[in-house]
This record gives sequence, structure tokens and C-alpha cells, in this order.
Amino acid sequence: MTQDQTWEDRYKSNTGTLPWDIGAPAPELVAALPVLDLPCKNVLEIGCGTGTNAIWLFQQNYKVIATEIAPTALDKARQKASEAKAAITFKLSDICEELPVEKKSMGFVFDRGVFHTIPADKRSVFVEQVAHCLMPGGYWLSLIGNADEVKAEGPIKLSAATIINHVEPFFELYKLERTTFTIPNTGMYLAWIGLFRLRSGG
Ligand SMILES: C[S@@+](CC[C@H](N)C(=O)[O-])C[C@H]1O[C@@H](n2cnc3c(N)ncnc32)[C@H](O)[C@@H]1O
Repeated sequence: MTQDQTWEDRYKSNTGTLPWDIGAPAPELVAALPVLDLPCKNVLEIGCGTGTNAIWLFQQNYKVIATEIAPTALDKARQKASEAKAAITFKLSDICEELPVEKKSMGFVFDRGVFHTIPADKRSVFVEQVAHCLMPGGYWLSLIGNADEVKAEGPIKLSAATIINHVEPFFELYKLERTTFTIPNTGMYLAWIGLFRLRSGG
């Protein structure tokens, strides 16, 4: 089974198998974004799931493009956006296979729990693609499972060293701090909040 079939199957089954889908915007996004000095209002969410964060971004007056690899997730996100009257551009796209936006067109890229799911041999491709999406001065905010978490279950876990190794060639590290993924009825899992700024010339 390929990775995208797996994601698609999980969204299709709709039987409580979407533990990451907390139905509220990520607190780290809500806290971080207003204080960033972005070069423009164009934002890209990669792996938007059912669209909660993309809708919140739209409601903060950003021009939002949101992508997904799973068609069913995108259908759900479109439905939710339509109910919220949120004019978001949704796109079915694998970030490792194609650039979902024009090169250097975004001021901000967000992913929650997507980078850490990318197979190890494609992590550098993912980071390079994010870098290509951003214009000079643009930021990438990423919420990533944390390898210091001792529970075996939960989100995929990366060490700080792994993240930095992949990110630093393209981005200045603004912040890499502990946070948690709080999964209702399941538990809390250590996570990283990573804030990265595109290197000049990147
Ligand atoms: C753990 S879920 C998080 C979903 C959403 N960000 C949230 O917080 O609710 C990871 C998401 O990334 C999407 N995804 C995985 N690989 C992707 C890729 N290469 N390009 C775009 N989306 C991808 C999956 O379909 C899934 O919706």
C-alpha cells in the first residue's frame, strides 16, 4: 500500500481514526503568526487535513492555498470552508512531487504533523520544496513529533538534530521548542514547534 492510499483510507474510513483532527486551530499557529513580520499575506498550508487551520488563516485575512495528498480530506476541507464562507484555494498535491504554488510566491508556509510523516529519504525534498514556495523573508512554521516522547504510540517522532540537519541548509532557525500535541480522549505527546526563516538567496 502506498503512503497516499494509507492517508486516503484513514480519511475515508471516518471511524475515529483521525486522532490529529482536533477541530480547532493549532494554538501554536494562533500564537506565532500575529507577531511575525511576513513579506506578504500569501500563505500555504501543506497537508491541511479537513481544513480547520486553513479556515482560521482565511479568517485572519490571509490569502490561503491549502494542499492535501488525500482526496477525501480535501473534500471534507472544501465542505467545511464552504460552510464557513472561507474562500480558500484547495489543491490535491504531493509536496514532494510538485511545487503546489508559484515559486517564491508565499510569505508563510504552515504544516502541522506533515513534515514528520515524510519518509526519511524524502525529507530533504520536502524542505527544499517549502523553501522554493517562499519569497525572501518568508517563514515556515512546522509542528513536529518529538523524539524525546517516551510513549511508543502517537505521532511520528523526530530528534532536534534530524530536524536541524534537514532545515538548516535552506532556513535560519528562529525557534525549535518543546510543545505538545494534545489529542482529545487519547493523550498528550511531546512535539516540536519549529519556526524557520528562508535564508537570503535560498
Ligand atoms: C497527521 S495528518 C495532519 C493533518 C492536518 N495538518 C491537521 O493537523 O489536522 C498529516 C496530513 O498530511 C497529509 N500528507 C501526507 N503526506 C503529504 C504530502 N506529501 N503532500 C501533502 N500532504 C501530505 C496527509 O494526507 C494528512 O492529512
